[in-house]
Amino acid sequence: MHCTRKVLNDLIWVGADDRRLSCFEGVYSVPEGVSYNSYLLLDEKTVLFDTVDKAVYQTFFENVEFALGGRELDYLLISHMEPDHAYTVGDLILRYPNVKILCNAKMQTMLGQFFHADLSGRIVLVKEGDSFSCGRHVLSFINAPMVHWPEVMMSYDSTDGVLFSADAFGLFGALNGRLFADESDFFTEHLGEARRYYTNIVGKYGPQVQNVLKKAANLDIKYVCPLHGFVWRRDFGAFLDKYRLWSSYTPEEKSVMIAYASVYGHTENAANILAVKLAERGVRVRMHDTSVVPASNIVSDAFRCSHLVFAATTYNNGVFVTMENLLHDIAAHNLQDRRIAIIENGSWAPTSGKLMREILSGLKKIEYIGDGVTLKSALAAGQEAELDALADAIAADIL
Ligand code: FEO
Repeated sequence: MHCTRKVLNDLIWVGADDRRLSCFEGVYSVPEGVSYNSYLLLDEKTVLFDTVDKAVYQTFFENVEFALGGRELDYLLISHMEPDHAYTVGDLILRYPNVKILCNAKMQTMLGQFFHADLSGRIVLVKEGDSFSCGRHVLSFINAPMVHWPEVMMSYDSTDGVLFSADAFGLFGALNGRLFADESDFFTEHLGEARRYYTNIVGKYGPQVQNVLKKAANLDIKYVCPLHGFVWRRDFGAFLDKYRLWSSYTPEEKSVMIAYASVYGHTENAANILAVKLAERGVRVRMHDTSVVPASNIVSDAFRCSHLVFAATTYNNGVFVTMENLLHDIAAHNLQDRRIAIIENGSWAPTSGKLMREILSGLKKIEYIGDGVTLKSALAAGQEAELDALADAIAADIL
């Protein structure tokens, strides 16, 4: 049974929610599910904007069939070849044998790689600068390389001012019947999952996101239709402002994120005491135990906060594994322009501080506050003064 919604009278959302997925891309927890969006334009030509993940293919095909209302599907327009959107292309071309595929040359190569089918007679290559008339609607194309794969190409319907933004402006979380961002209190309910989605999926590619934002600034955009999450039809500027911050690695807040890795609680104790001292000085603190909180949540807060404290014990002559993984994750996402403080622990040879700095050494515009605090097993008598000094230095920097 179909489950569709109208974006506009002739533009129908034909996607689906997946609430059974435990890890998106096998790594990002999605406790509130995820949506795979696809849109069908009913003009003189019918054009389907992307397909969906295999997990929801049945609902998707029922939706497409219903929305077509007995018409032929003339074109599939691909904006991104990642299988959460393109997995179902193989089934689609079998079900709709006359459908033509609008895509760019990089997508054509990937179609061959994924589907091993001869699609040469069915491909219509388009590129940035081209326009394509569907009848009343005219589409143009905007290259968006690395947002978040190299082949990504957004499209813009100048007739109704609709930007099909691919992965950009998406979020984790099922739609749950809503389609438009203004059908919920977006900035209270969903900004966190939008931040976690952006920072983990495209956070590495800030300069490329900035380039696309510059190109899109010349368009008269009335609707934004991403491949995950809500369609925007009003108040998009506030969300765009977040993208400007995230993609330029500008902190959203003057605040401290403390992430700690502690085996028996002594490193945690030092982190807790520092948090208290910061709070007493009027500094906002966000805190994560790296053994409990998924790395994607901590990466997200690392993009959010201006100051980061990493506290970890030494383990097997290295950094405790959950902190080591987190720091490699942060380094892989190219986080920049942060003030960092380090707390290390080690009962006989504390080296985690030096090693944590080494993992982060490739990041740009990083400044360290203080030389770091070293625990030998546990905070020693009189060592509280070192945490006071660190809290003073961080608070002075923030306030
Ligand atoms: Fe939602 Fe990059 O795929």
